[in-house]
Amino acid sequence: MAIQSRNSSFQGKQYLPRVLIVARGLAGLLLAILLEHINWPYQIFERAEAVKPIGSTLALSPNILSAMEQTGIYEDLLKASVRGVGINLYNEQLKMIFSTGITTIKELSVYDYLVFPRPVLYDLLLAKVPKEKTAFKKKVLSIKQTDDEVTIHCSDNTSYEGDILVGADGAYSAVRQCLYKQLAQENKLPARTPNR
Ligand SMILES: Cc1cc2nc3c(=O)[nH]c(=O)nc-3n(C[C@H](O)[C@H](O)[C@H](O)COP(=O)(O)OP(=O)(O)OC[C@H]3O[C@@H](n4cnc5c(N)ncnc54)[C@H](O)[C@@H]3O)c2cc1C
Ligand SMILES: *[C@@H]1O[C@H](CO)[C@@H](O)[C@H](O)[C@H]1NC(C)=O
Repeated sequence: MAIQSRNSSFQGKQYLPRVLIVARGLAGLLLAILLEHINWPYQIFERAEAVKPIGSTLALSPNILSAMEQTGIYEDLLKASVRGVGINLYNEQLKMIFSTGITTIKELSVYDYLVFPRPVLYDLLLAKVPKEKTAFKKKVLSIKQTDDEVTIHCSDNTSYEGDILVGADGAYSAVRQCLYKQLAQENKLPARTPNR
């Protein structure tokens, strides 16, 4: 599954940099759609066998909704959403500690605050990414960078090369942990802040 790089020029190079996206969560899918729009070579690597859209409710605030418009899913998302009218925050004793109305948000930002089932967003994004762009059962264990390219190594002992690696593998990102380890080895991490 080598990524085909197109034979054209980019910043003086005779090809388009190949993007490796780890993995196929919301962030990875969003990037994939944008790359799809500009016909850019990329491949997604996902550790799961298949992605099951899980979760209950998701809310998106106006700051990300223009990106949803760019991906072409905004109108469908809007149809599946209710409009948020306020935010209440509770502490662990369920005592309300903060409350605000957000009905003026549209005047300020063009968009409403949208609340919808998470699987709807996932399915809409998924529908925009061709199936063959995702390799499943590819759990990334390590990464290697040289001046020329970047390589990911997966738990099934396969490796893939690209030019740009995007770690969209969630809160416990293996890509980020590998980068951190590499920076530590090269003594490039910032000094610790005191009292931590
Ligand atoms: C209970 C809850 C409620 C939330 N509510 C909201 C909300 O209302 N609004 C909002 O904006 N956000 C909300 N969030 C946050 C939101 O869900 C996350 O910000 C979002 O899912 C992050 O997307 P992601 O693509 O970065 O990571 P994820 O969606 O976590 O996807 C990561 C992907 O990486 C894969 N992966 C992990 N490690 C590897 C590896 N080593 N190799 C290959 N693949 C790997 C995983 O299988 C997964 O598919 C909520 C989160 C939680 C937990
Ligand atoms: C992993 O792959 C490399 C290179 O293809 C090979 O030399 C090595 O023996 C493999 N290791 C295992 C455990 O299969």
